[in-house]
Amino acid sequence: MKKVEIISQFIEYEDVNELSEEDQKLVVAARQSVSKAYAPYSRFQVGAAVSLENGVIMRGNNQENASYPIGLCAERVAIFAAGANYPGVKIRAIAVTALSDQFLIDKPITPCGACRQAIAEYEHRYHGNIRLILVGETGKVLVADTIKQFLPYQFTAEDLKVKTS
Ligand code: THU
Repeated sequence: MKKVEIISQFIEYEDVNELSEEDQKLVVAARQSVSKAYAPYSRFQVGAAVSLENGVIMRGNNQENASYPIGLCAERVAIFAAGANYPGVKIRAIAVTALSDQFLIDKPITPCGACRQAIAEYEHRYHGNIRLILVGETGKVLVADTIKQFLPYQFTAEDLKVKTS
């Protein structure tokens, strides 16, 4: 018997201005996307921007539905749009932010469990880490080098003995 410990690490910045120019650019894209979200039910708008190895930035935001469970999170809208439009092009990073008309979002929001799994698939697919840059409307910024920091001990294509590329 042995105890296995998994350590999660990420960087916290006090302000967006402390980020690299590239990361700040991605945050701006996520913030441009957030107000275009379709979230009439939760009134919690989420914006995501994904940067690709070819320089393209793909935006996405949450898309809700009167049939609540079929709505989709911003992260998956953005990452699936990248996969759909640029198959085979590596995803470098994703920035995520949120906006509410009911309260101030003063800390970063982290991707939900399903989105963590979706992001993990793309790390696996392209054999590379995807950097995460998470921001609220104000407050601290959270940066992680890989989704493994948020989703350790993953279930992936390897468990199915499937080659994805
Ligand atoms: N949402 C996202 O778009 N991303 C997340 O990481 C968390 C939640 C959306 C889903 C739903 O439309 C709304 O936020 C409230 O849960």
